[in-house]
Amino acid sequence: MRKQFFVANWKSHKTIEETREWFSDMSLRLHELNISDEQKLIVCPPYPLLSFCHEAISQHHLPITLGSEDISPFPEGAYTGAVSARLLRELVTYTIIGHSERRQYFSETVEILSEKVKMSLASGIEPIYCISNKEEKIPQGVKIVAYEPLSAIGSGHPDSPDDAEAVAKFLKGNNDIAHVLYGGSVTAEDVNSYMHLPSIDGVLVGGASLTPEGFCGIIQHA
Ligand code: PGA
Repeated sequence: MRKQFFVANWKSHKTIEETREWFSDMSLRLHELNISDEQKLIVCPPYPLLSFCHEAISQHHLPITLGSEDISPFPEGAYTGAVSARLLRELVTYTIIGHSERRQYFSETVEILSEKVKMSLASGIEPIYCISNKEEKIPQGVKIVAYEPLSAIGSGHPDSPDDAEAVAKFLKGNNDIAHVLYGGSVTAEDVNSYMHLPSIDGVLVGGASLTPEGFCGIIQHA
């Protein structure tokens, strides 16, 4: 079986109490699911929830790895509000970089994103680099790319599997990347139409990952 990635992007959702509830429900569901070593479950919560999630994963013995939703393009130092790779590496294995919401609302440029990729790689954190069209430049060293067409994000109108496959194949053929994920309105109902495609190795899930039912449904129907 090839690797399958299920990445939950919680965005700016959830309080500590809601996170506690998510993990206790998730724990019951996951123990029934028999997750294999090839299935990578990655949860990316807001920064202030990372240590809580870290504790919850070890307390419930869950097959979940943590990622951050972002990372500082700067080293540790006088950068108010930024969270450095040096701190993140104690909590996460992955980081999302270049999500379209970061580009749109926080004016992140390709130059900034390249610095973030450098910071994460230098600290041993694996970037999950998001792009919304296949011509976008992908910084050196990125091994996992998430293709998320803008019209598909949060809209309930996912991309067609044919288009997602064509883009994923193009990306793999033209870059040295190991894995391509699809993201944009993925649910338990449509996940299989992406996961069975030869060039797609997983999904990046926003809305549907906010409930354990939604996220487990996706894993189950993949
Ligand atoms: P969505 O978000 O699943 O809610 O469309 C996906 C994403 O933005 O990563």
